[in-house]
Amino acid sequence: MSAAPLRIGLAGLGTVGIGVVKIVQDHADLIARRTGRPVVITAVSARDRAKTRDADLSGYAWETDPVALAKREDVDVFVEVMGGHEGAAKFATEAAIAAGKDVVSANKALLAHHGQALAMAAESAGRVIRFEAAVAGGIPVIKALTEGLAGNQIKRVMGVMNGSCNYILTRMQNDGMTYEQVFDAAQALGYLEADPNLDVGGIDAGHKLALLASIAFGTKVSFDAVELEGIGKISIDDIHLAADMGYRIKLLGVAQMTGRGLEQRMTPCLVPADSPLGQLQGGTNMVVLEGDSVGQIVLRGPGAGTGPTASAVMADVLDIARGARMPTFGQPAATLADPIAAVSTTPASYYLRMTLLDKPGALAKIATCLGEAGVSIDQMRQYGHEGTLAPVLIVTHKATRADIDHAMSRFDATGVMAAAPVAIRIEEV
Ligand code: NAP
Ligand code: HSE
Repeated sequence: MSAAPLRIGLAGLGTVGIGVVKIVQDHADLIARRTGRPVVITAVSARDRAKTRDADLSGYAWETDPVALAKREDVDVFVEVMGGHEGAAKFATEAAIAAGKDVVSANKALLAHHGQALAMAAESAGRVIRFEAAVAGGIPVIKALTEGLAGNQIKRVMGVMNGSCNYILTRMQNDGMTYEQVFDAAQALGYLEADPNLDVGGIDAGHKLALLASIAFGTKVSFDAVELEGIGKISIDDIHLAADMGYRIKLLGVAQMTGRGLEQRMTPCLVPADSPLGQLQGGTNMVVLEGDSVGQIVLRGPGAGTGPTASAVMADVLDIARGARMPTFGQPAATLADPIAAVSTTPASYYLRMTLLDKPGALAKIATCLGEAGVSIDQMRQYGHEGTLAPVLIVTHKATRADIDHAMSRFDATGVMAAAPVAIRIEEV
C-alpha cells in the first residue's frame, strides 16, 4: 500500500484508550483495506508511564505532556480520551487544532462546555473535530443525525443515555432492591464515574443531550439550559407504583424545538412499559430520533465500555483517513443559532406521590392546592396505611412543570404533608 499512513497521537490509555490501541493493532489490515491507507499510532500519553496496561505500547513514543503530544510533527489526528472539561483535555485539544491536527474525542463534558469555541477554532483552521464516542458510546447516533437523517427536519430527540442510571433503575425494578442498595452495588462493580453525581445527577447524560440538540436543531451547544434532575429521589415505591400503572421509570433525555424555544430535559420520566424505551434493560442505551420525513428511528446498543467506545472513536478516525470532512455539529459553527431556551416545558401528565397525615380533609387540602394552580386530577388513590400516615398517588391531566411546582410549593402550608412529595413526568413516547 503506497498511500501515506494516517498517524494517531493518543492521549489517554484508560478504558477507552486501550480499546483504541487494540482495534488499531488487531484490525490493521481491515482498516487499511477500508480506508486505502494504513492507520497507525505514533505516540501516546497518560499520567503514569509505569502503570501496567493491557496492550503492547512498546512501538509508540511516550509523551508525558498531552499538549506536547498534540503538537508532534508525526501526529495527524489527536485522539483525546483523557476526560475532564478543563485542564489537560482542553489545553491539548486547543493545541492540536492550533498545530493543524484533526481531533477525535470521546469527551462529552469538554464538548458540552467548550464545543462552540473549539468548533469555531477548528473550522477556521480547516480542521475537523469528531465525537461519535461522546454520545451513547458504541451507538452511531452522531452519524445517524449528521448523515443518515441529514435531509430531515428533526422534530424530537429522546433517549436513555446513561447506562449506570438505567442499570440502577432496572435492578430496582427486577430485584426489588432500594436505590441505596443498587447504588452501592453499582459503585462496587466500578459502573459509576469517580464522581457518581455525574451519573446519578443526570449531568453526564445532560452533556450528551446538549450535543445531540445542537446537531438536531442547528443551535449552539447550551448545556446550561438543560433542565437536569437525577434519579436519587426515586424510591422502590415509585418503581412499583409505576409498574402497577403499566409504566417504567427511566432517566430520559428529551430535546425538541417548540414555539416557546428549545426544550432540553434530562429527568426521570414514566414511559409505557411496553415501549422500546420501557423495555430497555441494564446498562444499554437507546436513542430515539424523529424526523419529518423518516418518522421515528430507534437506535439501541452499548453506551459504554472499552470495545463499544473505542469502536465509535475508530469510526471517526476511519472517516478522517478516508478524507471525509464535516463541520463539528453538522453545519458550520459560525451558522449555529443562539438557542432561546423554552421558558416552560411541553405540558404532560404527572405522577405525584406523597405521604399525608391520615386525618379528615387532608386529601381535600392537597386537591385544592392543585386546583388553584390550574392542575386537574385524572386519577387519585390511597394505597395503604402506614400507622397514622396515608401514602397517596395522584396522576394529573396535562399540566406544565411550572404549574406542578407552584402547586407543590403550597403543599407544606397545608400542614398535612408527612414527607416531601415526588413529581415525575409521564412522557408520551
Ligand atoms: P479512564 O479509564 O479514567 O482513562 C483516562 C486516561 O487518561 C488514563 O490513561 C489517564 O492516565 C489519562 N489521563 C488523565 N488525565 C491525564 C493528564 N492530565 N495527562 C495525561 N493523561 C491523562 O477514562 P475512560 O473511561 O477511558 O474515559 C475517557 C474519556 O472517554 C472520558 O472523556 C469519558 O467521558 C469518555 N467516555 C468513556 C466511556 C467509557 O465507557 N469509559 C464511554 C464514553 C465516553 P493514567 O492511566 O496514567 O491514570
Ligand atoms: N457513565 C457513563 C454511563 C459512561 O454510565 O453511561 C458512558 O458515558
